[in-house]
Amino acid sequence: MVTELARGADGGLVASAGPRYFGFVIGGSLPAALGADWLTSAWDQNAGIYVTSPAAAVVEEVSAQWLLSLFGLPPSASVGFVTGGQMANTACLAAARQAVLRRAGWDVEQRGLYGAPEIEVVVGAEAHVTVLTGLRLLGLGAGRVRVVPTDGQGRMRPEAVEQELERGAGPMILCAQAGNVNTGAFDPFDRIAPLARARGAWLHVDGAFGLWAAASPAHRHLASGVALADSWATDGHKWLNVPYDSGFAIVADRAAHHAAFSADAAYLEKTSGEGRDPEDWVPEFSRRARGFPVWAALRSLGREGVSALVDRCCAHARAIADRLRRAPGVEILNDVVLNQVLVRFTPPTGGDPDAFTREVVQRVQRDGTCWLSGTTWQGRAAMRVSVSGWSTTAADVARSADAILSAAARAPSP
Ligand SMILES: Cc1ncc(COP(=O)(O)O)c(C=O)c1O
Repeated sequence: MVTELARGADGGLVASAGPRYFGFVIGGSLPAALGADWLTSAWDQNAGIYVTSPAAAVVEEVSAQWLLSLFGLPPSASVGFVTGGQMANTACLAAARQAVLRRAGWDVEQRGLYGAPEIEVVVGAEAHVTVLTGLRLLGLGAGRVRVVPTDGQGRMRPEAVEQELERGAGPMILCAQAGNVNTGAFDPFDRIAPLARARGAWLHVDGAFGLWAAASPAHRHLASGVALADSWATDGHKWLNVPYDSGFAIVADRAAHHAAFSADAAYLEKTSGEGRDPEDWVPEFSRRARGFPVWAALRSLGREGVSALVDRCCAHARAIADRLRRAPGVEILNDVVLNQVLVRFTPPTGGDPDAFTREVVQRVQRDGTCWLSGTTWQGRAAMRVSVSGWSTTAADVARSADAILSAAARAPSP
């Protein structure tokens, strides 16, 4: 049966865990994390409450401390182990909703939003779509947000943030970003965090992959000031290279985080404080013990290994950009500050660069040396290269750059 499944699925599998996969922002699986993930399935633990798996609960607690230390976040922050960036954003925003309404004298967990003071939500024009989905799920609406304009790299303009924060005095949530999905750029936390604090607004940071820059001495300046935020969403299955699914909802105000999710019932033997019940920090109740592969990834890499992984991917991204930009007709659209590269191609024989760029993306996908996808950046078609896998080498980068350049060297199809 398993052989039949493997045979049947094979043709439909994508080599996204491999070294020349540069699509979206998708990491591979570190060997230790993969081994721990197999154990997780074989052990089949329910990581809902402490008594259903003390090991899962404790391993999450230990991994949470390691993550906070790596990111330079307050050690007292709480961490929920969720499925990914989408749920990390949603869980953090649930804690935000709880806290800003509590300060306004409203218990949203008991009373819901009926008759509640309105929450102003401010987002950057480049907010990731999952932030908006989180707002929808929480009854805050994706369409009523105030949108702050961004610069050429997708960073919120701090003067515009200041203007938005000055409007009204009621509950407010400001959603910022560490790592734009196209450019890798960071919002200016140093500038906007003090503004949010002075206004009493909750500052949430979507750092699905970019927060990992804070784990690298060479790159943490990009996220300078990020620790001043109130909540942070990030992923394990992207840059930490643990198997899907894995994300972290991190909240400075533990009480707000706990109040947003904690559930109790007579039959649950919860730990009343001495142990950590994982379900108190996430939207799920019963769930996979996804802390085991996280622990294994962090333990196998160590602080220096995590930093080296981030630095290596960034160096590969810079190498691809440097190699491509030397060729005629190739333009790098972003400042390559992290692991993301946006590339645009002008046809060698003249013609429409948008159509040609899309054609080059398709040619590269068909060629199969590497895989990457396309996007539109500020109205212009671009190829997106995202280097997030632990196993990519300089040879993979050189081979992939050759494949991209040879796809771009041929004239556009008629
Ligand atoms: C900035 C950002 N936020 C959120 C997400 C969503 O993360 P996930 O796919 O893990 O739900 C992504 C995914 O690429 C992202 O880049």
